[in-house]
Formats: sequence, C-alpha cells, structure tokens
Amino acid sequence: MDINIAITGGAGSIAYQLTFLLLNKLSDKTIHLRLLDLESQMHKLTALKMEIEDCAFKNLASLVITSDIAEAFTDAQLIIMLGSYPRLLGMERKDLLIKNGIIFREQGRYIDEYAADDVQVIVVGNPCNTNAMIASSVCRRIPFHAFTALSLLDQNRAAQSLANYLDKPLSSFKDLAVWGNHSSTVVPDIWNSKINGQKVQIDQNWVYNIWIPFVRQRGADIIAKKGSSSSASAAHAILEHIENILAEETDIFSICVKSHGEYGSTPGTWVSMPHKKHLGKLILINKIEHDDRMLSLIEESFTELAEERQRCLEIGIAC
Ligand code: LMR
Repeated sequence: MDINIAITGGAGSIAYQLTFLLLNKLSDKTIHLRLLDLESQMHKLTALKMEIEDCAFKNLASLVITSDIAEAFTDAQLIIMLGSYPRLLGMERKDLLIKNGIIFREQGRYIDEYAADDVQVIVVGNPCNTNAMIASSVCRRIPFHAFTALSLLDQNRAAQSLANYLDKPLSSFKDLAVWGNHSSTVVPDIWNSKINGQKVQIDQNWVYNIWIPFVRQRGADIIAKKGSSSSASAAHAILEHIENILAEETDIFSICVKSHGEYGSTPGTWVSMPHKKHLGKLILINKIEHDDRMLSLIEESFTELAEERQRCLEIGIAC
C-alpha cells in the first residue's frame, strides 16, 4: 500500500530518529516521504536526505525535502507535526502556546487546503493537546477526528517506571493509561491496570508521591540533564502512536482526541484518554471508575486544558 507521509520540523532531533524508525518499521508500505522545515534548515534536511538515501530503504518510493508547506502537505495521508519552538529549561509546555499556536494555526490551514481527505494528523510539538485543537479549529474540510496528539510518551514513562518498581516484566502489564494534558498535570492511572490478569495492588504513597510526580516531571528532567528535550523516546512513542492508528485491533493505549465532555472533560479540548482500536475504529474505553483522589487529579488536568483553550479563543489563535 502506498502512503504519503509529511513530517514538519524535519531538520530537528525527533525527526532525525523518527524517519529511520518509520522506514524500518512500516516495511509493508510503499512510502512517499516529505520532510518540511524552514529555508534556513535546508542544509540539515539535505544531510538527512543523504543519510536516508544511504540506507537504500526498499520501501521508500520518493523523498522530498522542502520549505514549502503546500508541497509537503499535498495529498498527505499522514502528517506528523514536530516543528515548533522547543521547551527550554524552566519552561512549562504551555509557555509555548502563543509562539507555537501561530505555527499550528497556519499549518492547520494548509492541511485543510492540501492534505488528502483521509489524512491523519499527529501533533507532537508542544503544548501538543492544545496545538491539535488549534490546527483542527481552522479546518473546514478535514474532520476533527483526523487530529490526535501524543500521550504515549507519558504512558511509556509510566509503564517502565512501574515495571521497575514492581520488578515485573513490562509484558505482564495491561491497561495502563494516562489522562488529561501532556503537561505537568498529566495523570498516569494504575487504577484499572492489571498484572498477569490481576488488579494491581500497590502502595498508594508510592503512586501519589513518587510515581505520578515522576511521570509529570520526566520531560523537564531530561531537558535539565541533556540541555534539550527528549528525542529518541519521543520518536519511539510516535511510531507506536502511528502503529496504533493504522491498526485494525489493539490493546488499550492512551491518545489525545477531541473531547465531547467524556469523563467530565471540557468539550472542544484535546484530552488524553484510554482507547483501543476495534475493526479499524478508535473506541474510547468507557465507564472506568476512579476514587476521589484520582478524580480530582484528572479534573485538574482537564481544567488546565480548558484554560489553555480559553486563552486561545480570547487571543484569537483558535476559532
Ligand atoms: C517530553 O515530554 O519529553 C516532550 O514533550 C518535551 C518536553 O517539553 O518535555
């Protein structure tokens, strides 16, 4: 099957990992790849193109590097939006809202005009939930459900740290989820998870005082140590996100989608909630119950998303 894939921020560090992962993992597809970045980054895109060519990927049918958004997005069926101002030490992701919102609004308009009718858009540039909302809000042709944002990175962080703590293999866990915003309010949720089919029994102090703060701060901790944000782990999570949205059937996974008020979230915000694919459809996992403490954390993250949305509406970045 042929697929046109466009990646924005093509000269950045996530794209440097993601392009090779994609070409390796989507080996059953014939890929037409367009890498977009600013004109000033063309030397880096050219070098990336040279390295991709030197891999002689058999499934790569064409490779275009460009600074022309229309060229990158024309007939694109999968658009991965990485391009954005990065978060620096001491910043929250929402501090990027105005600068990045302007980029996502512009690119949203191009998606609406040029992308394929059945395009799937994955938003990664931060604040990713709200950027997905902004890009979708300017679209008239492309439906809201084409836009999703990444929360699998938080889920993977939560899963691995839990496995380390319990000293159990990752393969024994099921149904872990993260809720809300990809931010320092994200809520990893063990409440409905199972280990080898059994409900997880775990020290609640560890959950609330160690685990949840760990997941919430992990991105900032990486920035503090590395001087720039995570790239390989982000690329890996994006690949899993793509595999999930292209799959017919999956286990439960976290993904940010447009809310219609589910679980008390604010309609019109993009919210991480647990889903699965069944017969090719993305299905929300319903009727998950939480105790009051979890509910109040989830509500706090929903509120943050509602405030980000409100701010965008007030300053006219989203409509
Ligand atoms: C991450 O979670 O590592 C990324 O969203 C980058 C960041 O700003 O933390």
